[in-house]
Amino acid sequence: MSFQNVTSNIVSVDSARILIVDDSPDNIVTLENILEDYNYQIYKAYNGQEALNMVREVEPDLILLDVMMPGMNGYEVAEVIKSNPHTRLIPIIMLTALDGQEQRLKGYEVGVDDFISKPFNIIELRLRVSNLLKLRTYVNELEHAEQIIFSLARTVEAKDKYTEGHCERLSRMSVSLGKKINLTANELVMLRRGGLLHDIGKIAIADNILQKKGPLTDEEYEIIKTHTTIGERICAPLKSLKPILPIILYHHEKIDGSGYPEGLCGDQIPLNARIMGLVDCYDALTTSRSYRPAMTREKALRIIEAETGRNKWDPELFVTFVDLVHTDPLFHQS
Ligand SMILES: [Fe+2]
Repeated sequence: MSFQNVTSNIVSVDSARILIVDDSPDNIVTLENILEDYNYQIYKAYNGQEALNMVREVEPDLILLDVMMPGMNGYEVAEVIKSNPHTRLIPIIMLTALDGQEQRLKGYEVGVDDFISKPFNIIELRLRVSNLLKLRTYVNELEHAEQIIFSLARTVEAKDKYTEGHCERLSRMSVSLGKKINLTANELVMLRRGGLLHDIGKIAIADNILQKKGPLTDEEYEIIKTHTTIGERICAPLKSLKPILPIILYHHEKIDGSGYPEGLCGDQIPLNARIMGLVDCYDALTTSRSYRPAMTREKALRIIEAETGRNKWDPELFVTFVDLVHTDPLFHQS
């Protein structure tokens, strides 16, 4: 590939913010010079702490990070950035020594995205910066789409004053139950997100049905049921939400097959949906509704116990759940 071809592949992501972190002012100037033709906004930090402050202030789109610095070194800085949910998606390129195999392995461990050896190969550096910035743009778009979906879910909740705080409670309670049965960290994240999004399909249900004080007609009930399939359709296009689709679709299924939308039985219902269904029922019973006051914990548990006896809820989950309700203050708030 000719030099011309290589450079023409470099796309300047317009006015991207790049933070250069290096204790050597000379190195910073060198990097600035290499990147000066690309319309980036360059920010500089001369030590780790300054870098972290700047990450908060300017929210950079990419960080070029030196390894060896007095005070906090590059690994420590990267670890802080990559362990914070608000900053973990900012790509970091670490500037390592030429034979920096060990440095690279250590960098990967703390979540560094890419490495460049010193002395810099100018073309390589420009290309890597440009590629990571492009990737960052895609990630931003996906994050934005996710944010829209999560705010839609909050809109649904805001439609009904009786369900205020319901999704947040469901998230926390289902995670607590998931921990108790030793689910993985990843599965717990899915429960957390599932709790927030499980009823998102209600966005498409008319308010007069959703908030009706009296009993629902058969026809109205059929409409309410569609919130599961509609919710699944809303979230399905986002790959990142794929693992929680079963929660959205099946959180109203019952062990004996009497639930909806598909009438699944027993283990056919995914475990995370069984968890969400149980916790959803408990939260509904222990919070006040337009047509009845909130029940006590004991009364709610008696009702769910009777239903478990009639094969509505997972009996094993129910045993763990009762234990949790008695011991975890989280279940005493509703
Ligand atoms: Fe629901």
